[in-house]
Amino acid sequence: MKPIRVAVHGALGKMGQTLVNALCRETEMQIVGATDIKATEDYLPLPDGSGTVPLSSDLEHILTTCKPEVVVDFSTANAVMPLVRLATERGVSLVIGTTGLSADDTKEIDRQAKARGVGVVIAPNFALGAVLMIHLAKIAGKYLEHVEIIELHHERKLDAPSGTALATAKAMAQARGKPFATPQQGKKSDSRGEQVEGITIHSVRLPGLLAHQEVILGGEGQTLSIRHDTSGRECYMPGVMLAIKEVVKRKGVTYGLDILLGLEKA
Ligand SMILES: NC(=O)c1ccc[n+]([C@@H]2O[C@H](COP(=O)([O-])OP(=O)(O)OC[C@H]3O[C@@H](n4cnc5c(N)ncnc54)[C@H](O)[C@@H]3O)[C@@H](O)[C@H]2O)c1
Repeated sequence: MKPIRVAVHGALGKMGQTLVNALCRETEMQIVGATDIKATEDYLPLPDGSGTVPLSSDLEHILTTCKPEVVVDFSTANAVMPLVRLATERGVSLVIGTTGLSADDTKEIDRQAKARGVGVVIAPNFALGAVLMIHLAKIAGKYLEHVEIIELHHERKLDAPSGTALATAKAMAQARGKPFATPQQGKKSDSRGEQVEGITIHSVRLPGLLAHQEVILGGEGQTLSIRHDTSGRECYMPGVMLAIKEVVKRKGVTYGLDILLGLEKA
């Protein structure tokens, strides 16, 4: 089988560089181009020494000349909608890892993708351990009435709460089907974190951290903690590779990896 032709959007960023590295090791896919708003050279040297691929800040140029089948995006939230328009217009599938998209953005992406018969996978977290953490939290939330989420990330992360924490809260609330219990509070205080779907989320930003999340459920006389820690950006790569292989078979938005991993029905 011919390898899937992949371009990376945001290729000079931390996730983009990790992805370019990982793609060089894959036999079922081939990196054919790279885009980044910071690009100053016309070619990106591949880290395995196998050559170069075209690099540009002009996404349209890369789509036209490199003809990728899939663009993987790890850029910034306000770059996503222009990417979706340009890629779907050309029948190019998308794997979107950038966080900070609104529910309306996702709806609009689904509309554009369906209109053009193109697949898009949007995943706020590609780490398989994090996907399992959310899956387990959804089960636990049906049995324990109280929950809070602590998410901890490096100090350069732009959005708070994290996309993963928001996705966890929404998934848990939906799976439970009724509100979680809220603690008695005295005077209203911002230091109690942000309320999402009735669940309090605390966001910690510190150098030395990468991406971590703990879901703590409480009941009378007991707590249950479900925690996921990342120690390197490599943790996201198996999930991204799975999404690349699956997105070319799909139409419209597939949100999260649960369906692709068989944890949830389509
Ligand atoms: N889904 C996941 O599993 C996952 C994991 C880690 C990070 N993320 C998200 O991925 C995104 C990138 O994270 P990062 O740590 O690599 O950030 P980063 O700042 O290191 O990299 C972002 C890159 O995108 C480029 N960029 C910005 N605007 C652009 C545009 N308009 N067109 C093209 N390129 C543009 C920047 O120049 C930069 O090189 C963030 O939204 C982050 O939250 C998602």
